[in-house]
Amino acid sequence: MATIIALTNQKGGVGKTTTSSALAAGLVSFYDKRVLAIDLDPQGSLGFSLGLDIEEGRTISDVLTGQAPVQQAIQLTDYCDVITSNILLSSAEIEFTSSDRELLLKKALEPVMDDYDYIIIDTPPALNILTVNAYAVSDYLIIPMAPEILSLLGVTQLKETIDSVRVSMNPDLNVLGIILTKFNQRTLLAREVKEMAENVAGQMGTRVFQTQIRTSVTVAEAPAHGLSIFDHAPSAKPSEDYKNFIQEVIHLTSPKAS
Ligand SMILES: Nc1ncnc2c1ncn2[C@@H]1O[C@H](COP(=O)(O)OP(=O)(O)O)[C@@H](O)[C@H]1O
Ligand SMILES: [Mg+2]
Repeated sequence: MATIIALTNQKGGVGKTTTSSALAAGLVSFYDKRVLAIDLDPQGSLGFSLGLDIEEGRTISDVLTGQAPVQQAIQLTDYCDVITSNILLSSAEIEFTSSDRELLLKKALEPVMDDYDYIIIDTPPALNILTVNAYAVSDYLIIPMAPEILSLLGVTQLKETIDSVRVSMNPDLNVLGIILTKFNQRTLLAREVKEMAENVAGQMGTRVFQTQIRTSVTVAEAPAHGLSIFDHAPSAKPSEDYKNFIQEVIHLTSPKAS
């Protein structure tokens, strides 16, 4: 049965999409895992970064509104299977009015749970019904944080959302860790940033991943080529770092029995 990991942080620009895409592609390339990547952000960047046209075919909105079964929305790429999203998801969100509105994703994924080893969910920069749908179905959350946007502000809110999902519908929801992205070892700030992240991790009852993802322009270039960072710039620092990060993720997540 698939282990489900959502990348979350209500701040934008912290590396959620970049990390989702690297994690999904890397689990396939380096560990031969069966992976489904799901974009839950109406901006649609994940599908785009994995080389797909997000205006074509069925999307996650069709699945969540019951217009298409999940299998019809799965697109195959060189990296992994993908369910794309686009701006229609923000209007679909308003249609989530049923009493099980928080469990739409969980229910929709049931038929394919045994087809994958990992399902990776990219989430919007918000704590809204889409985020809650991701938390409700996930085994683990990973929180990307970028030094320039790192602050303790917002952590309480994030923690409250996680706790409330745990209480109301997913007691097994686990925060796997905080991954520091866009990291620059050379700055004086680096040590303070690590300390602050440790502090946040302590409050959330989790860890900071040992690996930090260093900054490189290659990260910003890769999506435009529809290539994973590993293919676009295999020897660049972030590729090396994401490889190490994925190794940590593999070690920390135990496979689930079917
Ligand atoms: N390690 C990195 N080095 C350089 N740029 C990065 C790195 N990680 C992310 N970026 C860039 O930062 C921006 C925000 O990243 P993104 O993954 O889209 O964040 P989010 O999904 O949290 O909004 C993007 O332009 C991306 O290319
Ligand atoms: Mg994003």
